[in-house]
Amino acid sequence: MPAFSPTILETADPAIPTARAWAARYDGARGRALDLTQAVPGYPPHPELMRRIAEAAGSRDTAGYGPINGDEALRAALAEDVGGFYGAAIATADVAITAGCNLAFAMTAKVIASPGDNLLVPTPWYFNHQMALSMSGIEARALPCRPEDRFVPDPARAEALIDGRTRAILLVTPNNPTGAVYPPEVIHAFAALAKRRGLWLILDETYRDFLSEADGPPHALFQDPEWRDGLVHLYSFSKAYCIPGHRLGAVVAGPAFQRQLAKALDTLQICPARPAQRAVAWAVPALREWRAGNRAIMEARAAACRAALNADWIDAMGSYFAYLRLPDGAPDAMAAAETLAAERGLLCLPGPFFGPGQERHLRLAFANAEAERLAELPGRLAGI
Ligand SMILES: Cc1ncc(COP(=O)(O)O)c(C=O)c1O
Repeated sequence: MPAFSPTILETADPAIPTARAWAARYDGARGRALDLTQAVPGYPPHPELMRRIAEAAGSRDTAGYGPINGDEALRAALAEDVGGFYGAAIATADVAITAGCNLAFAMTAKVIASPGDNLLVPTPWYFNHQMALSMSGIEARALPCRPEDRFVPDPARAEALIDGRTRAILLVTPNNPTGAVYPPEVIHAFAALAKRRGLWLILDETYRDFLSEADGPPHALFQDPEWRDGLVHLYSFSKAYCIPGHRLGAVVAGPAFQRQLAKALDTLQICPARPAQRAVAWAVPALREWRAGNRAIMEARAAACRAALNADWIDAMGSYFAYLRLPDGAPDAMAAAETLAAERGLLCLPGPFFGPGQERHLRLAFANAEAERLAELPGRLAGI
């Protein structure tokens, strides 16, 4: 067989199918399997959104190619939504729609970095970010986050890792896998560091719709009149609108970045899927209250998860994820996750999927399960 590229060979296998394969051996002895591997909200999309997607999918014009950076109506709707959420003026021209946020990140990496360059990525990291960089020959330079800091990264430790090949700092807040919400002052310190060292700040806020409204905007970066010179904001429609299968994400960035991004967009997606764009343009303003209701559901699930689990286990927790520390005497995370899936029907992801130094951790995406099912957690985890 001819050779594969070294960069793809060095890239990890997909995490979620690996964990699900362990569960194929589960015999059902502990009851119905509980799958907490993937970050998907376990409730359906809004019925009117589904109706509109179906209608749009049946129309001839959404069958054709659309604008490279997405349909104007959705770009305008998101610009307005982002502007309202962060209290800033965002223009339609600042928004590009992508075929999901994973692709938004992979294309962003292409725009700003070349093989041999590096991005600073707090660990534990979201595995697809690291995989996208690895595939492109770009180093994900680990910036370790500590449980005693609630997994919030430290700008001073980040600065010590910067070298002449560093192109960007990547932050994910609320975080996957820890659920950590970075305080505004930490985000601002990273923005100042990036600016001082001539780096891009990439901010993946896929989970921002699940932040508590009472806390106000998570940062004021969009209020900086110069934000377009250094900030790249990533967003996903997958979680907030429950439509991960329709593959819609977004990049909010300034005109110089958008101009370069258009090359990647044209080459890698040509245009994002069109039926869902049409329907989501309606949903962004129309389903604001529904989204707020879902935030309450997630808060209830977080409370159920917290109530079910021994507090000693929980190292961090946010609106979608619990990041557990295995008790002393338990096997390491890879073995523990395999045993839990194969023998107890509890599917979760082991820490090593999220980068170095995570051998004692498990990620539970509790967003997937109703609060009643989360009550099964102690029984399944006991004595591991
Ligand atoms: C932080 C983060 N970014 C991006 C994504 C992917 O989103 P999308 O479905 O839009 O590609 C996920 C999905 O889990 C995520 O957790």
